[in-house]
Amino acid sequence: MIDTHSHVYEEEMPNYKEIIEECKNKDISMIINGVDNKSNKEIVDLANEYDNVYPAIGLNYDQIDYFDDKDLEDLEELIKSNNVVALGEIGLDYYWTKENSEKQVYFFKKQLELAKKYDLPVIVHSRKASQEVFDIIKESGVRKGSMHCYSGSVEMAKEFIKLGFKIGIDGPITYSNNVKGIELVKEIPLEYLLLETDSPYLAPEPNRGLQNSPLNLIYIAEKIAEIKGISADEVIEKATKNAKELFNL
Ligand code: NI
Repeated sequence: MIDTHSHVYEEEMPNYKEIIEECKNKDISMIINGVDNKSNKEIVDLANEYDNVYPAIGLNYDQIDYFDDKDLEDLEELIKSNNVVALGEIGLDYYWTKENSEKQVYFFKKQLELAKKYDLPVIVHSRKASQEVFDIIKESGVRKGSMHCYSGSVEMAKEFIKLGFKIGIDGPITYSNNVKGIELVKEIPLEYLLLETDSPYLAPEPNRGLQNSPLNLIYIAEKIAEIKGISADEVIEKATKNAKELFNL
């Protein structure tokens, strides 16, 4: 199994090394996503240490006020000197504030340029910004990536798929009354879905509210299987194939 979006590193999870080792014993790999160059650096080091860790690096919205062009230069250096599998997580978030939207857009566009330059897929965070994220990606020419923890409409998901993107499904799919999520999983063929946890956040049932980890990926696969009326093994097999192809693992 491959968790295509997690934050299993020191700042987010003090027990990150135990988690990585336990996952390794259970044949679970993970793409760990950075949010700034401190976490990015930590993640590329972890990937050198553990063969079940793949690094995705990026400058994410929540630190945006502190970033400048030097961060983009440092990010590019990290891409050049390491076996990075994606730019991520990157994107736009207008849930908390729209006041810094200009700067968010600037860094999103710059990182899409880097993805294009180094022929890497992107892992995209989008909240309250679906149409703008879509327009910016379309214009950028980037044609491979994942819409991480996708929460938009089925119609929009299909538009992202047409652009060459896959749709990340996380723990909330297991929450009761997630009508929108269930509709999405029903409508979108398995070949376009990815399994991800966003650890340590968004733990699925039956571990909701606890620290999440890639060990919980199975509950997301089981829920997708239940919705689609197929076996969890089939979900895992196809989602693993999707992840390997997209991220060239
Ligand atoms: Ni994330």
